[in-house]
Amino acid sequence: MADATATAITHIASLVTNDPSLGSGPLGLIQDAAVVIDGDRVAWVGESSKAPATDNRIVAEGRALIPGFVDSHSHVVFAGDRTEEFNARMSGRAYSAGGIRTTVAATRAASNNVLHANAGRYVREALRQGTTTMEIKSGYGLTVEDESRALAVAAAHTDEVTYLGAHIVAPEFADDPAAYVDLVTGPMLDACAPYARWIDVFCEQGAFDGDQARAVLIAGAARGLIPRVHANQLSYGPGVRLAVELGAASADHCTHLTDADVDALASSGETVATLLPGAEFSTRAEYPDARRLLDAGARVALSPDCNPGSSFTSSMAFCVAVAVREMGMTPDEAVLAATAGGAAALRRTDVGRIAVGARADLLLLDAPSHVHLAYRPGVPLAAAVWRGGELVK
Ligand code: NIG
Ligand code: FE
Repeated sequence: MADATATAITHIASLVTNDPSLGSGPLGLIQDAAVVIDGDRVAWVGESSKAPATDNRIVAEGRALIPGFVDSHSHVVFAGDRTEEFNARMSGRAYSAGGIRTTVAATRAASNNVLHANAGRYVREALRQGTTTMEIKSGYGLTVEDESRALAVAAAHTDEVTYLGAHIVAPEFADDPAAYVDLVTGPMLDACAPYARWIDVFCEQGAFDGDQARAVLIAGAARGLIPRVHANQLSYGPGVRLAVELGAASADHCTHLTDADVDALASSGETVATLLPGAEFSTRAEYPDARRLLDAGARVALSPDCNPGSSFTSSMAFCVAVAVREMGMTPDEAVLAATAGGAAALRRTDVGRIAVGARADLLLLDAPSHVHLAYRPGVPLAAAVWRGGELVK
């Protein structure tokens, strides 16, 4: 039971707990609910009429409360601008991995202060929209010094830091990609591993092939970093099956999948399929088939993939709306993927759900139901956001 200094949020029209033991369906929905926050944790969840007495009370009247969004994939340590690339693409040019080089040059030339300010800006932008956990990758430095300082910047903003030295082959190594893989798995890994929890690789034509990706992930795992993979984004390839084989936490993008890829994800108890619809939206590409993955039994997460090239949005609500309208997800599945799915992709059990003992990361919607996230696309529905029990919006 909560103590008297706790805060109760009462008369919640519809509460998404993501705990089926607490309410109805996979979302564990409770109507006319209350949640009590004590310190940084959830202390009580149930029907509003049964809420314990607390000193502080917020009446949510008519609004829905859901877990804060868990964004398991972002590239927000960067400098520079790719408006022109976007503009050209919208005039017919195709997206390729090559555009990453533009951001690498600008990021290398930027001061630590600029990188820090940029990352903070997008983390705060996402937080105001309800994203209370955000993974951040390196990947625009591609030298020992620039990757490690990118990770130091990331670590100042999140606990979920990912070493992505293998984003593309650094331009200096264009003629000798094997030497770049040696750098990524050697001195660069030595410098970066202390900052990171995860290791990622862009397994794609124009980036790293299956053998190179495997070498990168195995080297990282030997240093205690857990694999995640940019897999099957632009073409069919070995990324998804490599992710599953190595027990990666997540295979990200999953746009071009064979039946064998879908089967591998469906039978994996470890690897989440993280779908990033902002990338397809912003590159006018075909969306991943979420329905196919869900029907096969795969675990699915959603993320905006915030980056200056393929998807310059931090909005999880936008991804929920696109996933429902374009990728065959139901509103319940999309909200689950944006919260508990992201938590699973980060192997977290303290976030992505609203239950006693979970971190008090909460998003109050200016709407009576979580379904409005898909029903009212483009509308800013975040009425209030708590992170670790603190009201941050
Ligand atoms: O997830 N696919 C590789 N990386 C990013 C794009 C990075 C960029 O274009 O700058 C992605 O889409
Ligand atoms: Fe990405």
